[in-house]
Amino acid sequence: MNYHVETLIPEEDIEKRIKELGEEISRDYQGESIKMLCVLKGGAFFMTELAKHIDESVPVELDFMDVSSYGNGTETTGAIKILKDLDETITGQRVIIIEDIIDSGVTLSNLIELLYKRDPKDIKVCTLLSKPSRRKVHVKVDYIGFEIPDKFVVGYGLDYAQKHRNLPYIGAVVFDEE
Ligand code: IMP
Ligand code: MG
Repeated sequence: MNYHVETLIPEEDIEKRIKELGEEISRDYQGESIKMLCVLKGGAFFMTELAKHIDESVPVELDFMDVSSYGNGTETTGAIKILKDLDETITGQRVIIIEDIIDSGVTLSNLIELLYKRDPKDIKVCTLLSKPSRRKVHVKVDYIGFEIPDKFVVGYGLDYAQKHRNLPYIGAVVFDEE
C-alpha cells in the first residue's frame, strides 16, 4: 500500500526539547553518575543526542540492549526475550532507560522488572515520545520529550518496516487512498 510521511515534529523542536531534557537530567543527577541504557534500535538517535546535553560535571556511561516481546504479531504478551544483553553490570548504579516511544508500555514494564533483579540503585525512564492513549499497563515515565496522538510515526530512530529511521524529524505515516 502506498503511503507518504507528513511532518509531525520538526527537527528544530526536537533539538530544543532534547537540550531541555539534558539540562533537567543534569540538575537531577548533580554529584552522581548516570548509566544510560539504550533500547535498540530506535532509542539510539535520541540517546546520543541527549548524552551530548548532559553537563560535563555529571559522568555518563552508555550501554545498549535489544529486546523483543513474545506475541503473535501485533499483540504483545508478557514475556520479553533478550536479543542483545548489556555489556556491563548495572548493580548499584543509577540507570536511565532511553526509549524512542512508549506505546502500550508492555515491553518497558517487563524490561524494568527484569533489570531490577540486577540490583541497580534505581531505574528511571526517559522517552522521546509517548502515546498515552495507547497505554495498557501503567509505567512511571520520568522524562518525556513529547506526548503525541495515536498515530504511527517514523524518524529520529523510529521505523516503519525498518525504513525512515534516519529522518531528522518525526513524521506521521499516512496511507494514500486507492
Ligand atoms: P510497547 O510500548 O510495548 O507497545 O512497544 C513499544 C515499541 O513499539 C516501541 O519501542 C517501538 O519499537 C514500537 N512502536 C510503537 N509505536 C510506534 C510508532 O508509532 N512508530 C514506530 N514504532 C512504534
Ligand atoms: Mg523500541
